[in-house]
Amino acid sequence: MKKIGILTGGGDCPGLNAVIRAVVRRGEQLKAEVLGIRNGWKGLIEGDVEPLTAFSVSGILPKGGTILGTSRVNPLKTTEDRQRLFSNVKRYGLDALIVVGGDGTLSAARELSEAGLKVVGVPKTIDNDLRGTDYTFGFDTAVNIVRDAVDRLHTTAESHHRVMVIEVMGHRVGWIATFGGLAGGADFILIPEKPYRLEDMCTVLDSRRKRGRTFSIVVVAEGAAPAGEPPPEHVGEGTSSGIGFRVAREISERLGVETRVTVLGHVQRGGSPTAFDRVLATRFGVRAVELCAEGTFSVMVGLQGTRIAPVPLSEATAGPKTVDLEVFRDAEIFFG
Ligand code: F6P
Repeated sequence: MKKIGILTGGGDCPGLNAVIRAVVRRGEQLKAEVLGIRNGWKGLIEGDVEPLTAFSVSGILPKGGTILGTSRVNPLKTTEDRQRLFSNVKRYGLDALIVVGGDGTLSAARELSEAGLKVVGVPKTIDNDLRGTDYTFGFDTAVNIVRDAVDRLHTTAESHHRVMVIEVMGHRVGWIATFGGLAGGADFILIPEKPYRLEDMCTVLDSRRKRGRTFSIVVVAEGAAPAGEPPPEHVGEGTSSGIGFRVAREISERLGVETRVTVLGHVQRGGSPTAFDRVLATRFGVRAVELCAEGTFSVMVGLQGTRIAPVPLSEATAGPKTVDLEVFRDAEIFFG
């Protein structure tokens, strides 16, 4: 293995630079050159690349975002793009490609690996919805941002005796809402995996009020929906799916209390990664390079307990990893 390419695709998240740094540093130790591909699959189609060295990745560990840039470009959209991609792999003499991405980016990697591309995937998403890994990096940072927001909303909710509804990201799953809500001490949490009943939620919030707790915090995953209704239509297509505003209106109409809505949005994707995400991303990067050196391809690195192990890309991209309701049950203990 003489030359490795690396790209970061899909929604960005804190920790991407830690992966890039680890790939370059471990790559150099294994005598491999590393070629950075800009803006995800788009750069490999268009030939937009830059050599990466220990010098060029110096100081990027604490930096959020990705120094390579990203895009949501799908390389399988046209045969022409696919052909350009494969001819660029040949043109740059890449022996292996490390693809850092979420479900969409890694699904494309799986299909391209079935067509012969030598790929190792690295799981990246704040949503934590990838199978084959206990956690994705970016998740812990997003959860800490939600926890901080919930802590802050507590003080203003208590002062004004209001119900504060906070809508958080997570696409079609509720990991961020569950962990962020539990860490922040939310009084109710709504997730897609457990369609909600307005009656049940209002009974809990009302019982708080009757006990003299005249404020409440409700954390809502952007993909949550009431029982018997389909998920919100525009999840992940912009700032809000609208579910936060709907829940606030329903609570206010049902209980006659003042509500306010916070849509956390892309704040959850920005800023410096936590220590946990830096360590996880770094270990993923190191292991991905070593798998390339061993000639193990069509896999994704995954965290299993404390070990980093290869998982078939086919398994990792076989649909979203939904919230383990055993974990959600622990959060429910603290509702009300
Ligand atoms: O997958 C990460 C994520 O932030 C989701 O939580 C959210 O639904 C979506 O991406 C937002 O996408 P964009 O940045 O394209 O608006």
